[in-house]
Amino acid sequence: MTQRLQQIAQQLSASRSQCNSQKCLLASQVVIVTGGAQGIGEAVVTLFAQHGAKIAISDIDAERSQRLVEKLEKEGVDAAYFPGDLLDLSFPQTLIQQVLKRFGKINCLVNNAGMHSKPVNPASSLMVYERLPER
Ligand SMILES: NC(=O)c1ccc[n+]([C@@H]2O[C@H](COP(=O)([O-])OP(=O)(O)OC[C@H]3O[C@@H](n4cnc5c(N)ncnc54)[C@H](O)[C@@H]3O)[C@@H](O)[C@H]2O)c1
Repeated sequence: MTQRLQQIAQQLSASRSQCNSQKCLLASQVVIVTGGAQGIGEAVVTLFAQHGAKIAISDIDAERSQRLVEKLEKEGVDAAYFPGDLLDLSFPQTLIQQVLKRFGKINCLVNNAGMHSKPVNPASSLMVYERLPER
């Protein structure tokens, strides 16, 4: 297992160092990362972007999402954000439609949005907490 993980890490590292436009591992692939504005989601966004993916961030925190998209765009990444609450049952459908309209396809979904017991950002976690159906 450890050996396989080392192999994957080496492949990713090699791919990143060679990554320019069409040579990237994930060139032209469109990925949605829910909860992509911070924490683990932001790390996933960064890694996918480094490998050439087009990034769709969906997060309840629109401000953080916007800041991250602006940062990615400065680095030449094709990125957009689609703010919304994934606890709202109608939102995923809207999200898919909006991403398809913006990017034309979806190759990958990283379903990461959620709450952790020790929030990195108390403000956004409070927003989420207040929307929980049962407490
Ligand atoms: N950090 C850990 O140790 C850990 C451990 C186990 C599981 N997880 C899970 O991993 C995921 C990411 O964790 P993290 O530590 O990066 O959390 P985080 O709080 O730093 O980030 C979560 C992101 O998801 C967004 N989000 C939360 N609920 C949402 C909703 N209903 N709609 C839209 N966006 C929403 C938040 O605004 C935030 O940007 C979570 O699902 C968490 O439960 C984390």
